[in-house]
Amino acid sequence: MTQVNCYKDEIVPRSLVQWYEDNLPSGPVGNYSIQERWLCLERCLYGLYRWYTEKSQRARNWNPDTSIEWSKVRTDHTEEFNTILRGFYAVEQYIPDYVSEGLKMFRQSYGRVQFHLRWGAEEERHSDLWRNSLIFTKAMTTDEIEEYSYNLRGQQWHLPWEDPIHMFFYTVFQERATQINYLNLGLVAKGNWNASTLTTDYDPVFVDACRFIAMDESAHYAFFLEGCWLLMYFFPERATEVCVEVLRHFAMPARHIIPDYDEFATILHKSAIFGMRQYSRDVAKVALEALGIDDLKAVEAGIRASRRVPEVDGEMRPGAVFEGFDYEKATKKANMLWQKIAKYEEGIQVPESERTSFLKLIPS
Ligand SMILES: [Fe+2]
Ligand SMILES: [Fe+2]
Repeated sequence: MTQVNCYKDEIVPRSLVQWYEDNLPSGPVGNYSIQERWLCLERCLYGLYRWYTEKSQRARNWNPDTSIEWSKVRTDHTEEFNTILRGFYAVEQYIPDYVSEGLKMFRQSYGRVQFHLRWGAEEERHSDLWRNSLIFTKAMTTDEIEEYSYNLRGQQWHLPWEDPIHMFFYTVFQERATQINYLNLGLVAKGNWNASTLTTDYDPVFVDACRFIAMDESAHYAFFLEGCWLLMYFFPERATEVCVEVLRHFAMPARHIIPDYDEFATILHKSAIFGMRQYSRDVAKVALEALGIDDLKAVEAGIRASRRVPEVDGEMRPGAVFEGFDYEKATKKANMLWQKIAKYEEGIQVPESERTSFLKLIPS
């Protein structure tokens, strides 16, 4: 069996590796060693990255300057609307930190790094889109934007978690949250927003702008979700525990280093674009369902119970596959992803011997 030189030792403590080896979960993945699982995961991420990139270039190749008719945008939006534009622009200023710290974290994972570079390039145009929105709506002058950007970029954002599994789950929630923000602003721009503010901010130009950018966030959410399905499949106990931990501590990126974030967040909340209600209903609930967690409380109870069982060396043992987590669903999703990768590789005529075949990766 090929030895995988990857980041597994950094995120799975040795005692935990041993525990997994001795207590492999039931189901198809139960016969595989930790290293075999990491090998499969690496190959799948590479396959998904290839599929993603082709689709991105073919179906979402928009440009923030030329795909949107900025010359027709309104210049009399409400102050609340303009504050939201400024806030969206601010949040997208920390992509350089996200990209550089991420690359350092998982640089040995080929597929993950390649995807991260692609993802960073797509996030780059989001910043450009919101910058254009500020210029063309006249919400800010060019001098003001320069000063604002300079100050924002003077602060460095640090990743909220220090390992790739946590960051995978964090990014699922974050991408979904960003998507909801942009989709809701798109509804405002359509002119049928049922809140007490932003009711006069209809604008067809922002309907297009929000559609493009929400489409990207949707694709990002889908990719990270797929990565999490694989983690749930290969490492169900660890992944479930991490998922709950990330969910409970989630906060939007850079909120503590954006100087006028409170005003922006208050307007988002008051206008019902985004607040705790939207986070709980449209982000957490949707993502958890997609991840196969039907009953969060049962999962948390399982994690708590498992923590009461110490190992021989005194470390606390993780639980078995928890109540409230649908492992069957994770298995189905993992199979679906392999089929997607296999179809893509067949389509581009990867030599048969080199194709990503899950079964082939596992020694008989
Ligand atoms: Fe973005
Ligand atoms: Fe994104």
